Amino acid sequence: MSAARLWIRHGTVITGEGPLAADVLVHGPAITAVLRRDGPAGGRGGPPDPARDAGAPAPDLADFHDAETVDATGLWVLPGGVDPHVHFGMPVRPGVRSLGWRESSTSALLGGTTTVVDFASPERGESLRAAVERARRAAEGTCLCDYGLHVTVPDVRPERLAELPALVAEGCPTFKAFLAYKGRLMLTPAELATLAAAVSDAGGRLLVHAEDGEAIAQAEAQHIHTGRTGPEWFPATRPPVTEVRAVELALEVAAQASCPLTLVHLSVAESVDRVRLRKLAPDLPPDRVAAETCLHHLFRTSALYRSGRDDALRAICSPPLRSPADGSALLAGLADGTLDQLATDHCEFPLEVKRQEGLHGFPMVPNGTGGVGERLVVSYTLGVRKGGLSPAAWVRTCCERPAVLAGLGHRKGRVAPGLDADLVLFDPEASGTRLPIGPGHPQARLWDGADWRGAVRQVYRRGVPVVRPGVRSLEQGHGEFLTRRPA
Ligand code: URP
Ligand code: ZN
Ligand code: ZN
Repeated sequence: MSAARLWIRHGTVITGEGPLAADVLVHGPAITAVLRRDGPAGGRGGPPDPARDAGAPAPDLADFHDAETVDATGLWVLPGGVDPHVHFGMPVRPGVRSLGWRESSTSALLGGTTTVVDFASPERGESLRAAVERARRAAEGTCLCDYGLHVTVPDVRPERLAELPALVAEGCPTFKAFLAYKGRLMLTPAELATLAAAVSDAGGRLLVHAEDGEAIAQAEAQHIHTGRTGPEWFPATRPPVTEVRAVELALEVAAQASCPLTLVHLSVAESVDRVRLRKLAPDLPPDRVAAETCLHHLFRTSALYRSGRDDALRAICSPPLRSPADGSALLAGLADGTLDQLATDHCEFPLEVKRQEGLHGFPMVPNGTGGVGERLVVSYTLGVRKGGLSPAAWVRTCCERPAVLAGLGHRKGRVAPGLDADLVLFDPEASGTRLPIGPGHPQARLWDGADWRGAVRQVYRRGVPVVRPGVRSLEQGHGEFLTRRPA
């Protein structure tokens, strides 16, 4: 049987440069062509014109005469969302683990995200490679969207660093260092410098969790000593300065080592300023420095820590939620390109677990919150509709840039010929959209209500319809492990 052909007609393709009135042809798992139509963006215009399909060989439209047609009138055709920072099934301690691969990836697909990058995190004494293999076994057959794996590096022993070149060659070119979580994952500044040099030599990219773990540990100890252990005290132990200091350190260390750097989950306006300044350096190669922020840092604030115990527990994540002014600065950073990507850091725990662990004080509460299913609708409603983010910047930061920075630009992140046919039909005029999206622990999420704007109507994963109104097709196939290239 020949591979399925699909003709998505009359939609508006949203690219990183802007909207385009265009049809999309799909053959099997890949996009064959993006055919511009005459007339204004979004209009029905004239017939598709293969000759105007920029840069790609014109397809033979006769091959598509019996293609399944999909009417996308009034809809946006988006590249499948790429969430470059999630933790599915992350163990914290015996008996405490974040929501698993199947449930989390179901939410991702329902919310229009077709690719995620999770983490392989070595346990004590485990090699990086063994951690990657363990994470792949957990994801295989259970993850419904496509996935890659960053590799957490918990120490800089020579045998660990010796593993980096092979991992880069095998498709895991991104390595996460923690400056927080003292006694578990935290690296010292000297260790960070050693790692940055090794990552640079291996041709990889360093991701840094930028919080000053020493200062946080001291503040935590003081809070415990004085009995201030309710969840409302959590943010006081991680003030903005702890992030900004660590951002400065990471920028300096990466520059010294000429190491490509992504600062993950930035939450503070001053961090955006530091990145903006660094990106202005005239000699900086493209993509040498990149930065990420997360949905909750953009659109939720530290007021939650003061609005009751459950809200405070829901909001325990690192870095903590910040002020409305920080959220505005982060959104401006996404709009002007200072911040490259909008992730979720999806790491969802049942509220009941947070309540139980919280009985022993906030340091015991597992850090993290959900959002992989809600990312597109929330950022569309609060970013595009209400926050002045252009549709192009939205697609750039939710799809295109995360794909490029993760080393997936050759397959993901754009609606373009030759790329995977990961496509989302999105209704920009929908109102009354209900959140949260997908299974798991909706009670623990920061996103609910019935008054959201925009809706994911259909989702294709490599040409296969996985979300369609009235069709339960999430069971059709699984996600694929993605070998990634150095960006
Ligand atoms: O609170 C968070 N962010 N939990 C997940 C682990 C991490 O630091 O990214
Ligand atoms: Zn982190
Ligand atoms: Zn994380």
